[in-house]
Amino acid sequence: MPIKCRKCHSADAEISLPYAGLSLCPECFLDYYVKRIKRTVEKYRMFREDEPVGVAISGGKDSAALLHGLRRAFPDQEFVGLYVNLGIPEYSDHCQEKAEKLADLVDVEFHVFDLKKEEGISLNDFRRTVFKKKICSVCGTIKRHTFEELAKRAGVKVLATGHNMDDILGFMFNNFFSGQWPQLIRLKPVLPPPTPGLTRKIKPLIRTPERESLLYCLYAEVPFREMDCPYSRGTKTKERLRMLETLSQDNPNFRHQALRIFLKLSKILERDIEQPSIVPCTNCGFPSLNGTCAYCKRIAYIKKVLSKDTEEK
Ligand code: FES
Ligand code: ZN
Repeated sequence: MPIKCRKCHSADAEISLPYAGLSLCPECFLDYYVKRIKRTVEKYRMFREDEPVGVAISGGKDSAALLHGLRRAFPDQEFVGLYVNLGIPEYSDHCQEKAEKLADLVDVEFHVFDLKKEEGISLNDFRRTVFKKKICSVCGTIKRHTFEELAKRAGVKVLATGHNMDDILGFMFNNFFSGQWPQLIRLKPVLPPPTPGLTRKIKPLIRTPERESLLYCLYAEVPFREMDCPYSRGTKTKERLRMLETLSQDNPNFRHQALRIFLKLSKILERDIEQPSIVPCTNCGFPSLNGTCAYCKRIAYIKKVLSKDTEEK
């Protein structure tokens, strides 16, 4: 006989959450997911009631579940959906379509930064360059910058991202074992603006295991992408996920315990580690180490490569 939901005791349980000792029916699971977002936002004081919040949407399940869940958790708050179209053939337009659908569904304003239209380049252009093995890192640099630009245009000072518990733990392990202490501090649930004028970054899914965002999207019928990014194959992310899976097998609480320890550690580190000093980029004002930010460097580089190509033709 199927077991009953531990919360409502009437519907059949379909989702088991071993770390919480809970088996829930779909309705109670959705409620549980949304309440955890609400508690996380309140615990870390991520935003005030009167602050409009930008949500970085990628088309993937995490950011989709995040925006949908935030709308349910805070029905009176103003949210704005932000999307960066990187010009990856097929994939970027597919993701944009899903992101638009989602913004429509939850009834929020939607802003797009189209890299091709605005800068005349696409992420794909980096494929034939020295960055061919580092496309994901170029992508990260571009997104960090363009989401700030979008936030400015949308008039929001808070930017929510869909980083989930597994993402955070994966980054933490990597940075921990490679001794990248300043990076470790960046994984906090709330990151103040690095320089005035930029956004405060918040991670309302920091306590949400990856698998639960997928379940949330499926049960709540939230639109999200149906294809993978062509550059994501065999990346470190998948290795990290496998490692977390193995470590959690004998101890369902492993992820939660590790997160708590790392958050404590990052507080200690914050007091003791000196952050590299930053100066505004002379071109765009974004933080940089030496006067030109990583984004402006990459854009200038790829434009040069492309113009050489046209000269040679
Ligand atoms: Fe950034 Fe795939 S979306 S590399
Ligand atoms: Zn710059």
